[in-house]
Amino acid sequence: MEPLPYTKPLNGAGTNNDLSSFCKITDLNVAFHGRKVLHNLNLSLPDSGITVIVGPSGSGKTTLLRALNRLNEHFPGYSGSGQINMSFSDTYQDINHSHMDLAALRRLVGMVFQSPNVLPTSIVRNIDLPLKLVTSMDKGARQERMVRALQEVHLWDEVRDRLKDSAQHLSGGQQQRLCLARVLALRPKILLLDEPTASLDFKTAQRIEDLLLELKQQYPIIAVSHSLQQTRRIADRIVVMKTVRLNANSISLNVTIWNTCSCCWCRCSDLYFQSDDKH
Ligand SMILES: Nc1ncnc2c1ncn2[C@@H]1O[C@H](COP(=O)(O)OP(=O)(O)OP(=O)(O)O)[C@@H](O)[C@H]1O
Ligand SMILES: [Mg+2]
Repeated sequence: MEPLPYTKPLNGAGTNNDLSSFCKITDLNVAFHGRKVLHNLNLSLPDSGITVIVGPSGSGKTTLLRALNRLNEHFPGYSGSGQINMSFSDTYQDINHSHMDLAALRRLVGMVFQSPNVLPTSIVRNIDLPLKLVTSMDKGARQERMVRALQEVHLWDEVRDRLKDSAQHLSGGQQQRLCLARVLALRPKILLLDEPTASLDFKTAQRIEDLLLELKQQYPIIAVSHSLQQTRRIADRIVVMKTVRLNANSISLNVTIWNTCSCCWCRCSDLYFQSDDKH
């Protein structure tokens, strides 16, 4: 695929021989109103599988996801620095560069939020509107893409005879799958999911988890979760985030990465629960 308008190879990482990492974050800092949230974060995210980010509330998980498609800068008081190099084609591009095309970036880095944010319109328009806005596809092609996306999230059979109904009348789990379909219809390169099952019952949550296990064959997925059980079921890799606030403007950020072999689980749980005396 065509690179985004601004392309810059990652220093020292090479362009073609280091693509097992989809995203390389270097010295990332994010603050709101001078209060640091992420401090000198360095992290590589793989180009396949499900990476689950866990950590205590307020440790910056959502802020990290939002950094990956530059949503943080829309909040008042934001300041930030650092590089986030992503490999959308055969070169890395620093998405924080001022020339980055943000619409293209957000199309490629698809994000699903904790609460389903369906548009207050019909099911079909929820998918068709973004396609109309950001692609030059004709009506027939958009229709095809919409059906395919709804099939991918196993929603098609449930809504095929009510496509013109309000999306807000769908159940929570159906709305969450519609949001995922909206993102998938735009053919992203990576999926970001912020606690995608937080507001769902156990059975619906499991359905979404099964769906993520299918989707990981096609997309690298970065998901935030507060459930260790869920993490255990779906994660190929775990990023544990832990911040210690030193004072109002200063934090120490500790990020640890675990592969999901069983011997890591006890240590991962320890970190997550901030307990040093277990096991
Ligand atoms: N737009 C914002 N304006 C001001 N402060 C913010 C903003 N977004 C996040 N923060 C602050 O950054 C810190 C991290 O927030 P974030 O939402 O990233 O945490 P989290 O790890 O996702 O927490 P949770 O598990 O509760 O969702 C918090 O102290 C929060 O108050
Ligand atoms: Mg959060």
